Amino acid sequence: MVDPVLKWAGGKRQLLPEITARFPVAYDRYHEPFFGGGAVFFHLEPDSGSINDVNERLVTFYEVVRDDPETLIAENRTHEHSDDYYYDARDEFNDLRTVEGKTDEQAVREASLLLYLNRTGFNGLYRENSDGEFNVPVGRYANPDWVQADRIRAASEALAGATIHSDDFEYVADEATAGDLVYFDPPYQPVSTTADFTDYHAEGFDRDDQRRLRDLAATLGENGVHVVLSNSPPVAELYEDLPAFDVEVVEATRAINSDGDERGEVAEVLITNVPPDERRRTTLSEF
Ligand SMILES: C[S@@+](CC[C@H](N)C(=O)[O-])C[C@H]1O[C@@H](n2cnc3c(N)ncnc32)[C@H](O)[C@@H]1O
Repeated sequence: MVDPVLKWAGGKRQLLPEITARFPVAYDRYHEPFFGGGAVFFHLEPDSGSINDVNERLVTFYEVVRDDPETLIAENRTHEHSDDYYYDARDEFNDLRTVEGKTDEQAVREASLLLYLNRTGFNGLYRENSDGEFNVPVGRYANPDWVQADRIRAASEALAGATIHSDDFEYVADEATAGDLVYFDPPYQPVSTTADFTDYHAEGFDRDDQRRLRDLAATLGENGVHVVLSNSPPVAELYEDLPAFDVEVVEATRAINSDGDERGEVAEVLITNVPPDERRRTTLSEF
């Protein structure tokens, strides 16, 4: 069991027991197409599979964590704690975005800046403006840890058997074969306009994307792939016409924001084609 390196909105730590209880007892490879902070992946530490996120800078981060953890840790130690440094780091991070064909050094620098901004920015948010620039203001932390040496080393080992993609979630149609497990945790469809959880990335995730995902889940199921999906209650009705899928609502007390200082009861739907008698039924001692 490895701790996620990044704070990420929609992180699934509180719901881990409910989610993994629906996983099958046995499966081949594990795929997570909406990786974010990767709480479920890092909990499982699967031997092989794939991860993906449409956010390219996030994906660069995980490639560097997997392939070059010690250089990343050394780079992390060079940062400073001040408002001026934060805004300079943010500018540098945004300048690096436009560089085509980055060198290894530039990729390490970009990864290190992402972690620094994640640990020192307001609420650990990741938000981009319409030009794709990261625009989160500085946060107020007495003693933030942006080095994260132990977590990076452990995450690097956990990622050793994973192929890493930066694509739309549909890549998994080519990666997953019969007997594999796919866990989908897409951006939430907001329950109300004030709970706008879709704001992860400049490209939003709309109802058509939710339908596209539903169709992919159905096709994967027909091909013998185990599928588990989490989301907010409004997506439940999309799965009503798929008899192979069970839709269950669970209540979770969890962080509303990524920092855990605002908590509340959140209803979450868990959707799966894993038959009840094939589920592993998580025991609490695992957590
Ligand atoms: C709910 S978050 C995942 C949180 C993650 N389970 C965790 O524990 O931190 C959803 C992720 O989907 C990504 N995303 C948004 N649209 C996508 C798409 N079309 N294909 C793949 N990933 C996408 C976002 O960048 C975001 O990181």
